[in-house]
Amino acid sequence: MADHWIENHKRDSWRRQAKASGYRARSAFKLLQIQKRFKLIREGDVVLDVGCHPGGWTQVAVELSGEDGVVIGVDLDACQPVEGATLLVGDITDEMTQERILDELQGRPINTIVSDISPDITGKWDVDQTVAMTLVADVFDFSMKLLCKGGSFTSKLFQGIGVEELIKAVKPYFSDVRRFSPDASRNSSSEVYLVCRNFMPWMMEKDMSIRSTYEELLEPKLGGHEIEEDLGEVFTSFRVRRKKKSD
Ligand SMILES: C[S@@+](CC[C@H](N)C(=O)[O-])C[C@H]1O[C@@H](n2cnc3c(N)ncnc32)[C@H](O)[C@@H]1O
Repeated sequence: MADHWIENHKRDSWRRQAKASGYRARSAFKLLQIQKRFKLIREGDVVLDVGCHPGGWTQVAVELSGEDGVVIGVDLDACQPVEGATLLVGDITDEMTQERILDELQGRPINTIVSDISPDITGKWDVDQTVAMTLVADVFDFSMKLLCKGGSFTSKLFQGIGVEELIKAVKPYFSDVRRFSPDASRNSSSEVYLVCRNFMPWMMEKDMSIRSTYEELLEPKLGGHEIEEDLGEVFTSFRVRRKKKSD
């Protein structure tokens, strides 16, 4: 009960601070704390903000990238405009949304990808965890190809099954990969951010897919391959030997 009260109190305190500072969401402080520690966004950067609604991270990204920066936000829900940013409405895994992001980029590589994406929660913990982690893998697959050499990718993760496997899948492509839990999200114990820095594009093979690697790594934990329905005819030399009855 006391823990619950403290959690609510902390959450309200971040909310009040967000209101006072002009940020739309208390989540803005999470990005500010990640930035303070890792210096991800620099002046003039091209930033992609994935799952940007209501726009707290977008506001921070615009401030940090400055007048010469380019900030593109995308979310399923429409945001109120943020001056200095282009906000797109759509599903990041949808080809049409991806085309629109590419149009906005006009061939410019991205310096920093920040993703606070979280899918709708069904309440079934294992289903939610699987959906959330697969979504993160899909975001990697689409946007990593657009990242410049030395660029960074930061994504929200939910602690649980699949986290170790996802980290293993992305590690070969960044020289520095670590988990970070900002103070502003400490009251949500399952939330952690994966901060991947110094992208090494030369490590990417042509048909590589973070999602496939992730799923392959996860398979043994989930109990291996599904049983195929139609196995066809199976030949065997197995025979049942009956014991001779003794008199
Ligand atoms: C925690 S909120 C982001 C808060 C935001 N960073 C801020 O500071 O205002 C997570 C967002 O992810 C979005 N989202 C979930 N699935 C998505 C998808 N497939 N494509 C785009 N956005 C998605 C949700 O609509 C939701 O607005």
